[in-house]
Amino acid sequence: MPIKQRPNPPMYPGGMEIGAEEEAAVLEVLRSKRLFRYYGPNPGPSKAEELERAFAAHMGVQRALAVTSGTAALVCGLQGIGIGPGDEVIVPAYTWIASAASVIAVGGIPILAEVDESLTLDPADVERKITPYTKAIMPVHMRGAPCRMDELTALAQRHGLKVIEDVAQSDGASYRGRRLGSIGDIGCFSLQFNKIITAGEGGMVITNDETAWKRAVMFHDVVGGLRNNFPAAEMMWGINFRMPELLAAVALVQLRRLEGLLAAMRARKRMLKAGLAPILARRGLAFREIVDEEGDAAIALIFFMPSAAEAQRVVETLRAENIGASVLYRPDRTDYHIYAHWTPILEQRTWTADGGPWRWARREIRYRADDCPRTLDLLGRAVHLDVSPLLTNEDIEETLEGLSKVLA
Ligand SMILES: Cc1ncc(COP(=O)(O)O)c(C=O)c1O
Repeated sequence: MPIKQRPNPPMYPGGMEIGAEEEAAVLEVLRSKRLFRYYGPNPGPSKAEELERAFAAHMGVQRALAVTSGTAALVCGLQGIGIGPGDEVIVPAYTWIASAASVIAVGGIPILAEVDESLTLDPADVERKITPYTKAIMPVHMRGAPCRMDELTALAQRHGLKVIEDVAQSDGASYRGRRLGSIGDIGCFSLQFNKIITAGEGGMVITNDETAWKRAVMFHDVVGGLRNNFPAAEMMWGINFRMPELLAAVALVQLRRLEGLLAAMRARKRMLKAGLAPILARRGLAFREIVDEEGDAAIALIFFMPSAAEAQRVVETLRAENIGASVLYRPDRTDYHIYAHWTPILEQRTWTADGGPWRWARREIRYRADDCPRTLDLLGRAVHLDVSPLLTNEDIEETLEGLSKVLA
């Protein structure tokens, strides 16, 4: 008999809450026949605009822009802060590939930097990677936890760089009392189904920089400049990443659920951590470093084993006890969260034969799968457990019992 009686609840925090309110919101939009943000038979207020106002207020910024995905948010954010051909942007070696791909999409060149025990950008390695061509740093707040924003923003200021925060995995989390995404020049969120709150797909851009916001608005909507009466001299062409009203209606309801979800996950993570701390201490093991515990979105509990082989053994044994766990990196399992598996980028593959954005590089750029050995070592030794807001006390007790047995 496994220690844990049931498998964990699914890790779709907002997704699992979808209920009557989302249904009503979607029906309201359908019945109004106003499926497009800017017009329809029944004009009325736009859900996307309402979402932008609510999101900006929630995150403590002046401006928010609703788009179709987190990747679209990153692309619009990069356009917003003026990243283009040949510009180097420092991205962490541990992030969803979209962070790097969005840089490439605007003609920029992603430069990989190591993560440290926080599993977010290591400021010391970022500094080593800065060249005369660096234009921005992209801190990615991975698995709910904030990056070392004081060090990173200080670095950026010292070197005259922009900061674009990727908050896809950490909606509502904060660093020293400030919401993630509101600290750098611009912040980008995802509402994809895996994220804390969701509309299935979708993304948000937030900023206090009026110029960056205008640029993002004009890029995300071909006639964004005209619609907003921006000055003719500032007018730019754009493409289309406009958020549909149906998504915005769902996202608005989900935003109202965000603080409740965070509170539920934080309470559960505190219990798990309190129970696991003495077990880890006995074995001289450490948790992933959380640079601001209060601000942690608490979606994940991560600790490090002494070796990758031990981490894999622990995960297998936990799974046999019905405890969902995973290691964050295995060389033999392709996972686009780890740069070493980004073959299309490492090999600088391009959609056309012209060399893609790398032809604009102002120095020779070569990527290798062993560029960031510390990141691979840490991720290979990292044991990861989801912290679902639906974990029951029983789930937590049994998880701790299992961890205690497996780590003993
Ligand atoms: C860190 C990170 N950045 C960017 C994205 C891209 O978001 P989307 O899938 O909504 O395009 C994701 C999630 O998929 C992510 O986890």
